[in-house]
Amino acid sequence: MIGEERPDDIAAIAALNRAAFGGEEEVEIIDRLRRDGLVALSLVGRDADAIIGHILFSDLDVTVDRRRIRAVTLAPMAVVPDRQSAGIGSRLVRLGLALLTERGYEAVIVLGHPGYYPRFGFSAALAAKLAAPFSGAAFMALELKPGALAGTSGAVRYPRAFRIEDPA
Ligand SMILES: CC(C)(COP(=O)(O)OP(=O)(O)OC[C@H]1O[C@@H](n2cnc3c(N)ncnc32)[C@H](O)[C@@H]1OP(=O)(O)O)[C@@H](O)C(=O)NCCC(=O)NCCS
Repeated sequence: MIGEERPDDIAAIAALNRAAFGGEEEVEIIDRLRRDGLVALSLVGRDADAIIGHILFSDLDVTVDRRRIRAVTLAPMAVVPDRQSAGIGSRLVRLGLALLTERGYEAVIVLGHPGYYPRFGFSAALAAKLAAPFSGAAFMALELKPGALAGTSGAVRYPRAFRIEDPA
């Protein structure tokens, strides 16, 4: 069963991210995004009382032809190690994209595995024209609203919560 996180899920979400990534970095990013009020959507996968998957989307500063669009970044996402490759992550991504579309978001940016995200419609070519701290096959974008990223130029600025050096 997949649904939005509840306040009493927060410790279990941290434990899941720690287990999936083997460290604290993603847990700290999630804490800072919560603290800064940037969480747009946080979904969990449950099996009985256990949280077996999590995906977070947070507000991102994306401009296209100098117009700010309603964009989010997908990060992090995690599935508990002994339940990976069973479709849980895919269900989290697909429900997340559907809810964000319903709620009027226009685009999603992800920095992630180039073999995983294109199946959901993410494209490195679409992200390539956006000035950003990242480039290459792992930096991908998806339009929730057709044409949202169709300008001549654009830029992505990550919030401080991600601790990314912005070269701009
Ligand atoms: C990446 C991850 C969220 C995918 O969730 P999932 O439920 O395992 O994925 P699904 O079952 O929907 O899809 C399976 C696909 O994911 C890929 N995958 C599974 N585990 C993976 C891993 N540790 N790293 C990268 N890709 C992985 C599989 O190769 C499979 O691809 P295929 O369909 O081409 O064979 C999950 O494996 C995970 O938590 N990994 C560790 C943390 C991580 O890397 N998070 C993503 C940061 S961008």
